[in-house]
Amino acid sequence: MPETVLVTGGAGFIGSHTCVELLDHGYEVVVVDNHVNSSPEALDRVAKVAGRPLAAVHRVDVRDRKALSEVFAAHPVDAVIHFAARKAVGESVALPVEYYDTNVGGTCTLLSVMHEHGVHRLVFSSSCSVYGDADTAPLTEQSPVAPTNPYARTKLTGESILQDVCAHLADMKVLALRYFNPVGAHPSGLLGEDPRGVPNNLMPYVAQVAVGRREQLSVFGDDYPTPDGTGVRDYIHVVDVAEGHRVALEHLDDRPGMRVFNLGTGAGTSVLQLVAAFGEVSGRPVPYRIVGRRAGDVAELVADASAVADAWGWTTTRDLTAMCRDAWRFQERNPDGYFAGSPGTGAPQTGESPCD
Ligand code: NAD
Ligand code: WQD
Repeated sequence: MPETVLVTGGAGFIGSHTCVELLDHGYEVVVVDNHVNSSPEALDRVAKVAGRPLAAVHRVDVRDRKALSEVFAAHPVDAVIHFAARKAVGESVALPVEYYDTNVGGTCTLLSVMHEHGVHRLVFSSSCSVYGDADTAPLTEQSPVAPTNPYARTKLTGESILQDVCAHLADMKVLALRYFNPVGAHPSGLLGEDPRGVPNNLMPYVAQVAVGRREQLSVFGDDYPTPDGTGVRDYIHVVDVAEGHRVALEHLDDRPGMRVFNLGTGAGTSVLQLVAAFGEVSGRPVPYRIVGRRAGDVAELVADASAVADAWGWTTTRDLTAMCRDAWRFQERNPDGYFAGSPGTGAPQTGESPCD
């Protein structure tokens, strides 16, 4: 029998690519998503790219205990990948309760329902943002954590809860993956990043400038202590991130308890290097101007990616050129996202938080 994996947030940027990777490797995939930040269209495209359907799609809020429990009752779930979360750092400052409610409350509800149904295998989306204003590079999993915003604190809190649950339940197996900066798109051009409104992140902003949706990029600061003065990050191709989750599933049973791994490439890229690479790949130079630093930004965040390589014999394979090429292909073929004019078409949200 193929394994059945329940993917929360499966319609999102990383979730949709991971669903393709799982379908490509023979898993049965059940998706739970309330589409607060995604379009159901992404899941139609997942099936198209993979050439076979998802086992089921449930429009359910992970905070809705009853509905989530019904999903578990309806499928023989062997493992869970938990992507569903709110992820915008700036928004988390303005909506802390919503962020804790979804990211921490949703994780607690999921854990409780998993326990109720005897499911004890979980891959959890964590983030490099838990390292905060790091002054060391590259960052290992042992580097100090010091989150600087509510979003990052929800991720670290999620990790802490999972540590405590694993200490209590002997058969619990958890892998928390701290992604660095996932970018790019599926090489088919059918799946990619479809942010709502003005993109917060560099790659989608650059792509929208290149396609003519925005006039120019604002580069947030050129006076950092980096080779060209602009911020350095560890960009990782989203298909490598997806592959990392599939490999993580294969290693969940290596031992019980909780393990934390970085998911990055180990290579640092500056803002101007990414802008130049994108211009070259797309044939459209990206106009930009230097502006002041963005509040809360750090000079450099780069992973030491060796722990995953040592543990699983797996490394990322897609370079910056592939990241830009695939992001550009998606942007060019979907200039206005999945649905022209209305990316992430307003889906009814179940289980709306009483804190909203
Ligand atoms: P995304 O917003 O594209 O995907 C998240 C998905 O979860 C969306 O489809 C959204 O509709 C769904 N969702 C949100 N709240 C939900 C709820 N209460 N119930 C059910 N579904 C809900 O984000 P992404 O970039 O794919 O990120 C996936 C995960 O990876 C998140 O946990 C995020 O915090 C983490 N992460 C992302 C990045 C990044 O830069 N993209 C970096 C590090 C960690
Ligand atoms: C990258 C670089 C900016 C936009 C975020 C989250 C983090 C994690 C990954 C979820 C920085 C510069 C950006 C622009 C710019 N997500 N920039 N102009 O901030 O490293 O990380 O995504 O867990 O938690 O904080 O990513 O893409 O926003 O910025 O100059 O319009 O690009 O200053 O140096 P960041 P980013």
